[in-house]
Amino acid sequence: MGRLMVRGFAVLLFILMSSPSVLWAGDDGFAEKIINSQCKNCHRFEGKPKSKFDLKAPDLMWSGVKFQRPWLIRWLVGQEENLYPNSYRWDKSFHFSRKHMILTQEEAVVIADYMEKTYLDPRVKKSFVDLSTFTEMEASLGADIFREYSCLGCHQIKDDEGKSIGGPISANLHDAGNRYTLDWWSRFAENPQDFTPHSGEYLADISARKARHIIGYVMTLGVKDFKFYEPWNSKTFKKADAGRGAKVYKEYCVQCHGPEGKGDGPGAKGLDPKPAVHADLPLSDYPADYLYNLIYYGGKSVGKSPNMPDWGMTLPPQSLADVIAYVRSTFKGN
Ligand code: HEC
Ligand code: HEC
Ligand code: HEC
Repeated sequence: MGRLMVRGFAVLLFILMSSPSVLWAGDDGFAEKIINSQCKNCHRFEGKPKSKFDLKAPDLMWSGVKFQRPWLIRWLVGQEENLYPNSYRWDKSFHFSRKHMILTQEEAVVIADYMEKTYLDPRVKKSFVDLSTFTEMEASLGADIFREYSCLGCHQIKDDEGKSIGGPISANLHDAGNRYTLDWWSRFAENPQDFTPHSGEYLADISARKARHIIGYVMTLGVKDFKFYEPWNSKTFKKADAGRGAKVYKEYCVQCHGPEGKGDGPGAKGLDPKPAVHADLPLSDYPADYLYNLIYYGGKSVGKSPNMPDWGMTLPPQSLADVIAYVRSTFKGN
């Protein structure tokens, strides 16, 4: 009898110790205490978006979906550099000590857990950008957009030598690919003013395809060995068929390159440089990635004439693969 009771007690103790709800309640209480007594002195965790000029620090009501967890924990334990070179409120002559409050690893984990389940934002949905199909060429087009659309005017990144470049008015983005979730960043990009009005951020006039390039590009920043998609190694390319490609060639390429690839199509007249004479080129030996990028993104993307159009929006992936198979099997040089 005595032994049974002892065992019963042991079982109860075990249930108490292993029941997550009991432990979580304790951690939640701890997280709430720190957030209410410390973090809320500077950050808002609820309420509607408000002008930046009424804030002391970035709003955190969407923080549960904004950050990648390892970054958030590194930030909270003080292992990350400041994000805003001129401090968050660049308009204030005085600002808080530039050193952010530092938590222990254990505290940071508890706070991160709490933020991830508490501060969600229903506006943030699955991104329309699929990073698993993001190519190196798309990243390089995104890098061009970063310059053409003034992003570099307000955000710093690092150049190839690791030197900081760009205007220092907003968040440093050199490590953005390790900080943001793709879903938050995509939704933010749709309209930054939905998050922080008067932040100084602007809405760039770009197409959905360019949005994909700039959003994806930012997600590569700071990421070592980002795994780019290689369409020419995909299933679509393994199924490519030169017979089907001949038809695509006739429909789209002959107009300039001519029926036998002699560069004498009706569209060739008046072009300088002339359309390439495929019949003289060993296209069979051209690397698949080069042909893919040339045909998908046009001559300008590989340093050739912009009169060689970009077919990526016109030809479905299979037709693109087929026409490449056709030119590689047909034109082998002299
Ligand atoms: C004294 C004011 C202050 C306190 C207290 C404070 N923060 Fe901050 N926090 C800031 C400022 C200012 C920034 C922007 C820092 C910069 O320039 O990089 C910031 C940035 C952050 C960021 C990054 C935000 C973003 O959008 O990039 C997170 C996350 C964060 N704080 C979490 C916390 C948490 C959690 C606490 C409480 C444990 C806390 N902070 C306490 C002032 C504060
Ligand atoms: C005129 C200056 C300016 C330009 C140009 C600009 N931004 Fe910003 N950006 C800002 C400011 C200011 C914020 C908001 C910071 C805040 O929360 O108050 C911001 C926020 C961001 C953020 C989120 C930062 C964070 O951690 O919350 C990203 C990512 C970003 N911008 C990317 C871009 C990209 C990409 C471009 C080019 C299409 C661009 N920005 C152009 C000023 C600018
Ligand atoms: C509007 C005219 C035009 C059409 C249509 C056109 N091209 Fe071209 N293409 C050019 C021009 C011009 C060049 C030469 C670019 C240069 O030398 O700078 C060229 C060059 C090329 C090259 C050679 C690139 C190199 O590195 O030398 C290939 C391969 C090619 N085109 C494939 C195609 C395919 C495949 C199609 C159809 C899907 C196509 N082109 C349709 C104008 C056209």
